[in-house]
Amino acid sequence: MKFYNHKNINYLAKYIPKSSGVFVIIDKNVTEYFPKNRIFHFIPIDANERNKSLEYVYGIYEALMGFGADRDCFIIGVGGGITTDLAGFVASTYKRGVRFGFVPTTLLAQVDAAIGGKNGVNFSGYKNMIGTINQPEWIYLTPAFLWSLDERVFREGVAEMVKTFMIFDKESYNSAVALASVFKNKNAAAWQEKELRRLIVLCGEMKMMLVVEDEKDRGNRRLLNLGHTFAHAMEKCAADKGADWLHGEAVSVGMMIAAKVAERLSLCSEKFVNTLRDDLLMASLPVSCPFTPTQLFSAIKADKKRSGESICLILPKTIGRVIKKNIELKELQKVLKEINL
Ligand SMILES: NC(=O)c1ccc[n+]([C@@H]2O[C@H](COP(=O)([O-])OP(=O)(O)OC[C@H]3O[C@@H](n4cnc5c(N)ncnc54)[C@H](O)[C@@H]3O)[C@@H](O)[C@H]2O)c1
Repeated sequence: MKFYNHKNINYLAKYIPKSSGVFVIIDKNVTEYFPKNRIFHFIPIDANERNKSLEYVYGIYEALMGFGADRDCFIIGVGGGITTDLAGFVASTYKRGVRFGFVPTTLLAQVDAAIGGKNGVNFSGYKNMIGTINQPEWIYLTPAFLWSLDERVFREGVAEMVKTFMIFDKESYNSAVALASVFKNKNAAAWQEKELRRLIVLCGEMKMMLVVEDEKDRGNRRLLNLGHTFAHAMEKCAADKGADWLHGEAVSVGMMIAAKVAERLSLCSEKFVNTLRDDLLMASLPVSCPFTPTQLFSAIKADKKRSGESICLILPKTIGRVIKKNIELKELQKVLKEINL
């Protein structure tokens, strides 16, 4: 898998391999920013969590069949994480798998969702239940798409960046927190855009280091799940109530809960928890969970990373150091009731 990093989308054509046809599965909200090339067959999609489903995938298979796409075709997924998850799943299963690449257009997709080969759909109310692990041939990164994003959507990407840097490196972590303010100034000075590009690529490379070591997510790749057990549980609770939570916002609160659990288990200091809270607030990200410990715990019990009566949590010790910790479900239930969610 290769990253191509450019100022704008104009260099895409040079990375499209020889194929029997190029099919662009594209989020309808970004079609106006994407080049119209005669060789592209467009399959526009409505990118929302409801459509991240097997039923919606059937429609995309039908569109591909309607175009006569064969096994030598090339698929490009263009959009945020919903689109890259769907396009990657379609490309991995259509005709038993065809070649594909991604042009992620949200910050969250550029630093996380499009990277690592995990793709798939939600099922029966649970996130990402059905899917494959299969790497795209390349990921084309450009900040050019980011300026049309809704500010909340930009910030959820910052949350995933903060998460990755929290695993690896304090200096980049601080830069990512500071980066959240860049979006407010759309006429960001050239150095800010340069810094944004640098951090996007660095974040992707750091994630790929863990993916290359542990593609199937049985070992150290799990460190990337920092905050995610709680985030997925909150997203499940929110979906049940019809509440509007973005994935990165849930990750922000999930990191806070992970830090509080770690503090309760004497793995990190209160000072660290307070610093993390201040940093996330500075990045205008949410830090409190609106659900009760009971609601959160019952969603956690359904987590696919759970095995038997315990669950593997990723907990922070400090910035740049996180650990895997198996915890009995009963103990987690007790801790969730003791901390201030
Ligand atoms: N596969 C993985 O490893 C992985 C990792 C993290 C998240 N995810 C998944 O990613 C999804 C969230 O991704 P997301 O936050 O990118 O969401 P998204 O794809 O829903 O995009 C968010 C919104 O922004 C719009 N949009 C996209 N690009 C735009 C642009 N350039 N300008 C204006 N609007 C634009 C979309 O239409 C959508 O309304 C979730 O489904 C999550 O499960 C997957």
